[in-house]
Amino acid sequence: MNKMMMDEPFRPVGLTHAQQGLLGQPLERIDGPAKVTGSAPYAYEGTPHGISYAAIVGTPVGSGRVTAIDATAAEAMSGVLAVVHGDPRMPAGEANSRAMPTMATDRIFHVGQPVAIVVAESLLVAQEAAALVRVSTEPGEDRFDPRAQPVDRKPAIGFLPPIRKGDLDSALAAAAVVFDRTYTTPIHFPAALEPHASTVWWDDGRLTVRSSNQVIGSARTTIAQVLGIDPGNVRVLAPYVGGGFGGKTGVGPEVILAAIAAKRVGRPVKIALPRRQTAYMVHHRSDTVQRLRIACDADGRISAMAHESIAAQNDDGEFLEPVPFGTMPLYAGETRWFTTDLVRVDLPATGAVRAPGEAVGTFAVECAMDELAEQLGLDPVELRRRNEPETDPLNGKPFSTRRLLDCYDEGMRRFGWDPQPAASVREGEWLIGTGMAAALRGNFTVNAEARVTLAADGRAVVETDMTDIGTGTYTILAQTVGEMLGLPLASVEVRIGDSDLPPSAGSGGSFGAGSACAAAILACEDILAELALRMNSAPDELRLKDGCVSVGGRQVSLLDLVRGEAIVADGKTGPGAESKRTSQASHGAHFCEVAVNAVTGEVRVRRMLGVFDVGRVLNRKTAASQLIGGIGWGIAYALCEDAVVDPRSGRFVNPDFGEYHVATNADVPKIEVHFIEEIDDSANPAGAKGVGELGISGAGAAVANAVYNATGVRVRDFPITLDKLL
Ligand code: MOS
Repeated sequence: MNKMMMDEPFRPVGLTHAQQGLLGQPLERIDGPAKVTGSAPYAYEGTPHGISYAAIVGTPVGSGRVTAIDATAAEAMSGVLAVVHGDPRMPAGEANSRAMPTMATDRIFHVGQPVAIVVAESLLVAQEAAALVRVSTEPGEDRFDPRAQPVDRKPAIGFLPPIRKGDLDSALAAAAVVFDRTYTTPIHFPAALEPHASTVWWDDGRLTVRSSNQVIGSARTTIAQVLGIDPGNVRVLAPYVGGGFGGKTGVGPEVILAAIAAKRVGRPVKIALPRRQTAYMVHHRSDTVQRLRIACDADGRISAMAHESIAAQNDDGEFLEPVPFGTMPLYAGETRWFTTDLVRVDLPATGAVRAPGEAVGTFAVECAMDELAEQLGLDPVELRRRNEPETDPLNGKPFSTRRLLDCYDEGMRRFGWDPQPAASVREGEWLIGTGMAAALRGNFTVNAEARVTLAADGRAVVETDMTDIGTGTYTILAQTVGEMLGLPLASVEVRIGDSDLPPSAGSGGSFGAGSACAAAILACEDILAELALRMNSAPDELRLKDGCVSVGGRQVSLLDLVRGEAIVADGKTGPGAESKRTSQASHGAHFCEVAVNAVTGEVRVRRMLGVFDVGRVLNRKTAASQLIGGIGWGIAYALCEDAVVDPRSGRFVNPDFGEYHVATNADVPKIEVHFIEEIDDSANPAGAKGVGELGISGAGAAVANAVYNATGVRVRDFPITLDKLL
């Protein structure tokens, strides 16, 4: 096994032997035809023999206690197979709170907390019977308004410890220029197109769960832990996933309930959360309050940067939105305060949603930089340029690769950056403005394994329990292995989405592509070593292309080399010494032009352009598509997404797409994405940094800054709905 030693630096990844020309190509997704023709099996599809259908019953109120559950009427309905509630197999608390339905306790943490599952012969019967289950409750004190709760300044939860480096008060007192503003962002839903769906069945004590899930390896562990069975007796399948955005990183209670119900009725069970239930049973991104304080000299050189925030969580949750995460390495300055305080609420859990931290933290810091630039009479790019740190300003670590200045330059050139004074450009009744913002998302490489087989027929198979959540995993793995072994794309088969395959990082934290492809590369290196042996040569001397290996003047086909004897190799990667030695992030610059109607306040985004530094680009099309998707979401964060809680009931006012407004095609203009490509040898053996969560970082701030430039109205309470501009 080609194992990445944790205390050794990564080998530089030149892929010098590779001549296939596949890696980086803007290839179409190889899973595309299966998806568009409907033959790709998603979690709810396929109907195992004897299938039954489930619906979940949630608590009608958001606090207090459950005193009784009366399922008599539901059980009496024709076609109902079982109503399961109060199951004693449910331990409370522990690893993954979303997977731990609170049926073992009578405590109510939020509205819609799952307390029972109904299984029936048909979906309609299950849903109708679920509506007949009576849940009696005893009221309790409630905390439905996050802004009305006491703030815990020393939260015991979350992964980002508070940072208070230097004396902030002194730095602010000594500075020529001081900036101090507060920004707020609302609750956001991770609204994936494919519902949170699963089909589950038992077979001789072995549980199979076909589920829409981003990280199936840990899903298997969690399911086994919650059900108290051996992980070897759980198999999670997720060959196709229709989006996740963080909402499918964990295991939902509906999966656990379906597994218990399937055992109870002795039949397979299908469950899909209706959209409105998704709002309650899947975590959301917390609303935030963010105070930005910046001290600088008259030239804009920053001496202190403080990004202090407040985020919410319920009493059952362990996650805390790491709001200032992206701000930490972004700009220079000796004194640095980055904190997230906590308010406890009786609302559905908050959790990781695409670019946890950066997606909303960049609103505050990147709008603040825009405001500060105007205060100083500087171009906003120039202010950023003056504060570009040489090393990580928090710990002095060198950056692995950081091409942020190049992203600004290239973006300005391509966009035609020529900002005019605020509220100075008008076309009829439209006010025109431009804005920009930096993008930054931390880069992580996570433990991942892949097995590559060079089969006796000269074709290659790569196997890992990765998922493709619409991101292009199938395609980039095929490209990577094809590149490494000199095979055309059609000669590489990709097997993912099965927890029985070698464990990967899964899709999350923008670490999936880099980690999985790195593992595949390491496996391929072992295969190359074996091929070199068979060629009586050294791996570095091999040149591979079109299924042929050449060394010097000799050329042999792979088919001849494998001689009916397949070569199998396992590659394993993880965070190496370079991950500790260097500070790693993906970077970018967003530029935006908006038109704001002077009469109605309507904002139309006219164009957006981004330039990104993501290390090696594995596929220029799928990488660009992720960035475009993230930017589209950033537009929505800036202008419309806003989950509203009724503070009297703890219910969402708008838990569906009718009222929770995401950006539609008509709201999203042509988005241009460009890359500054520098292979990052410190990131991982693939040289690739994260892409998936970079696009949304900073995108909304660029829109907000353009809206200010157009109108002269600075909105600090997101989203920027038209009423706030009039
Ligand atoms: Mo993510 S928020 O790690 O899918």
